[in-house]
Amino acid sequence: MKQTQIITTVYEYDSIEELSQEDQLLVNSAKEAAHRSYAPYSKFNVGAALQLGNGEIIQGNNQENSAYPSGLCAERVAIFYANAQYPDIPVKAIAITARSNGSFSESPIPPCGSCRQVLLETEDRYKQPIKVILYGENRIRIVENIKQLMPLYFDKDMLDE
Ligand code: THU
Repeated sequence: MKQTQIITTVYEYDSIEELSQEDQLLVNSAKEAAHRSYAPYSKFNVGAALQLGNGEIIQGNNQENSAYPSGLCAERVAIFYANAQYPDIPVKAIAITARSNGSFSESPIPPCGSCRQVLLETEDRYKQPIKVILYGENRIRIVENIKQLMPLYFDKDMLDE
């Protein structure tokens, strides 16, 4: 038996002012998107914003449904919209925010497993790392790519093994 460690590097910030102008813009766009989410069941309003290689910012938010599994997370709404509109333009970064009970969460909001898988596919598709900005009112976390969030990932290379 051999034990190994997988190390994830996380950059932590105490406030939005510590981020670059570009990242601040993306976070503010994700916050704005959260206000338009459709989440009457969970009342957890998630907002995501993608920065594309052509400079465009694409927003997404969670879209719930009375048949719960038919809804979709904010991150995937944004990614699928971006891929549908701009199939040849890479996604460079994503910011994620969430609101409940009238205020943004204090802790940074990480993407769920299914969204990580879709973000991984997007990194693979455009052969570019996607920076992930997890926003919270008291702390912001940034990782340089999706593999940092999901080290033992499944991707298309496994299909050929
Ligand atoms: N949600 C997201 O939009 N993104 C995530 O990564 C986690 C969860 C949504 C799904 C559902 O509408 C609500 O948050 C509660 O789970």
